[in-house]
Amino acid sequence: MRGCGAYLPERVLSNDELSRMVDTSDDWIVKRTGIHQRHIAAEGETTSQLGTKAAQAALNAAGLTGSDIDLIICATSTPDYTFPATATQIQHALGIDHGVAFDLQAVCSGFVFAVATADKFLTSGSHKRALVIGAETFSRILDWEDRGTCVLFGDGAGAIVLEAQNGTQSIMDRGVLTSHLRSDGQHRSKLFVDGGPGSTRTVGHLRMEGREVFRFAVGMITDVIEDALNALGISASDIDWFVPHQANRRIIDASAQKLGIAPEKVVVTVDRHGNTSAASIPLALSVAVADGRIREGDLVLIESLGGGFTWGSAVIRW
Ligand code: ACO
Repeated sequence: MRGCGAYLPERVLSNDELSRMVDTSDDWIVKRTGIHQRHIAAEGETTSQLGTKAAQAALNAAGLTGSDIDLIICATSTPDYTFPATATQIQHALGIDHGVAFDLQAVCSGFVFAVATADKFLTSGSHKRALVIGAETFSRILDWEDRGTCVLFGDGAGAIVLEAQNGTQSIMDRGVLTSHLRSDGQHRSKLFVDGGPGSTRTVGHLRMEGREVFRFAVGMITDVIEDALNALGISASDIDWFVPHQANRRIIDASAQKLGIAPEKVVVTVDRHGNTSAASIPLALSVAVADGRIREGDLVLIESLGGGFTWGSAVIRW
């Protein structure tokens, strides 16, 4: 784990502003979600631009340059174009013309899936240093007349740099210690975008059965977290920081309580960022590193559930 970085668009959209756009209120949004504000990309500001700024910040934190990177994975559901991959646009913007860059689509679980994928590339010996990015402009796929969804999401990007190093094969090694991914496509209708090039030839808008997603988000993540703890032979109390996907304060609190993780070990940024999908975990990691909570050697548990459903966990020794 060499470094992390983040970028948030300048424009902040408050709940009060939203309540002038749709029939909602600051009180309703805060009570049900814990969200106070979210950042929204400027007109013309693309996912790859957000991702490039986050990636550059991560490289700076790592003391590296683009020439040191040979693998770029960008987790996103809001690519600049249907193709080419947003990761290739970030690669080019960083001045990198070697190695490989590709996107990964697992909606809100995208960052966890990308971390697991990068780790497998690095441990195989095929690549040396990876930029793992979560970048989203969910504001582009929201139905701004649907108060049930438009109040929940925001835009942003975060990134980490992972480097292959010889370890001792013990849980004292730094980096990704274990990862566990799952998916089950039968849940499509609970959280999906109602468009796409192969179906409607449009981009579409996000649709969600909020209550169902809530129920599954709290229920389904337990298995991948137990798998992670069992794989390392540790218990929840050994975790220094729990950095879950930032969908909703109530989901985060209920998940931490169910797992027996103390509230003071839970990193929460959903109040300031809203749900930024694949960007939410690296954004939260960056906040907790910048404010001195996450330090080298800490054991960090990340987890997420997203559309599909997809869900996953990873434990990282920082
Ligand atoms: N402002 C005011 N009222 C609203 C709003 C709003 N923004 N949105 C919905 N309501 C109303 C509904 O119309 C409904 O009114 P009614 O009783 O007159 O019919 C009432 O509030 C209750 O609606 P519910 O959808 O049942 O409200 P609920 O308590 O379930 O809260 C919420 C909705 C916040 C979406 C909740 O279901 C939730 O947190 N779900 C999880 C979904 C989530 O976080 N998704 C993120 C993407 S998935 C992921 O990242 C894992």
